[in-house]
Amino acid sequence: MTSYPTSTGPLHDALNFAQRQVRRLIETHPGFYPLYTDKGHWKHDKPACTRWCDGFLPGMMWLFLESGLADDPSYWRKKAEEYSSRLEDRKEDRDVHDLGFIFYHGTYKRWYEATVRDGRPDQRLKHVVVRAGQVLAMRFKKKGQYLRSFISDESLFIDIMMNVPIIFYSARQNDDEGHKSRSLLWDVAENHCLTTRRVLVRGDGSTAHEGIFDTSTGEFLRQATHQGFRGDSSWSRGLAWSLYGFSICYELRNDPRFLATAEANAAYWLEHTPADGVPPWDFDASNFPGLPLSRDKVDSSAAAIAASGLLILSKLTKDPTRAQTYRTFALRALQTLCQSPYLAIDDKNWEGILKRGVYHIHKGLGIDESVMWGEFFFVEALTKALTTP
Ligand code: GLY
Repeated sequence: MTSYPTSTGPLHDALNFAQRQVRRLIETHPGFYPLYTDKGHWKHDKPACTRWCDGFLPGMMWLFLESGLADDPSYWRKKAEEYSSRLEDRKEDRDVHDLGFIFYHGTYKRWYEATVRDGRPDQRLKHVVVRAGQVLAMRFKKKGQYLRSFISDESLFIDIMMNVPIIFYSARQNDDEGHKSRSLLWDVAENHCLTTRRVLVRGDGSTAHEGIFDTSTGEFLRQATHQGFRGDSSWSRGLAWSLYGFSICYELRNDPRFLATAEANAAYWLEHTPADGVPPWDFDASNFPGLPLSRDKVDSSAAAIAASGLLILSKLTKDPTRAQTYRTFALRALQTLCQSPYLAIDDKNWEGILKRGVYHIHKGLGIDESVMWGEFFFVEALTKALTTP
């Protein structure tokens, strides 16, 4: 039976291990931005699909620094700037819907905030974030009222909820600077959230991965998936993206509908995830006869994203009992992830931090591996748990 230590010792040990593994990665493969491991090794010739993860490696370096728990602050500052600045041109990238992952969660927003903490705010860094938000907003489909996924004009992804905060952020900066484009950015971000809520979030709080629209009329046609079990199932990572994404959109926009959606997602998460906090890769996988992939296959990255999201939501909910429930659940998930078989600390050959993530089960990519977003949100949740009451 799994035991759940209540001290923060295992979380500190995991954060220190994370710093050693990130250092090992960048010293073994300088300048390399990986996506997922193959048998525990970052460098391999398996496909990447899109370059959506590049911000997570520098993002972890900024998190080490922000937490005040960095083992070598001057080393991490130098590397964080180096690995972030190499991504600056991606702010113009029209091929991905992931500019929020890269610039808001990962790099330039954190870099800008570091300069604020230094007492020397660098506005140029903030303008890179704002520009990335403007470019992401160009994906907006007026008919249908959503930001299109990288797949096609007809496609909306739940993952985009993690990226739309950069548009709210850009809208606010534009307001502060008195620019005229402000209402457009607010409208794009807000309407994207409302469309996602309407077509991808179900009455029980579960989510679909993808929505398909008729591009000529904007009519919503059906739910679909790429990485989940099927269109009407609940892919656990997608639900975690929604829970976290709606939480931060509520933080940025203060629209109570976003909070209600995040709480509905959280209710589903808490009801369906095992007590150790690590979900199956898809909550509905066992419900279908003849399924070749067992429900027992877990996704540790979904657990890490949800833990971080629940820690945010615990600060936003108006209900003190729920706040406590969210935090307790998140901390329990982290305690689980800090033990075997998840933390790779006892496997000297393994180059990642967290084992048992899943990237794309249908394509056979990154199954039972370390995945960059899992590493990032695990580190983020650890730093939040260790630095906020
Ligand atoms: N494409 C985002 C994800 O794999 O969650």
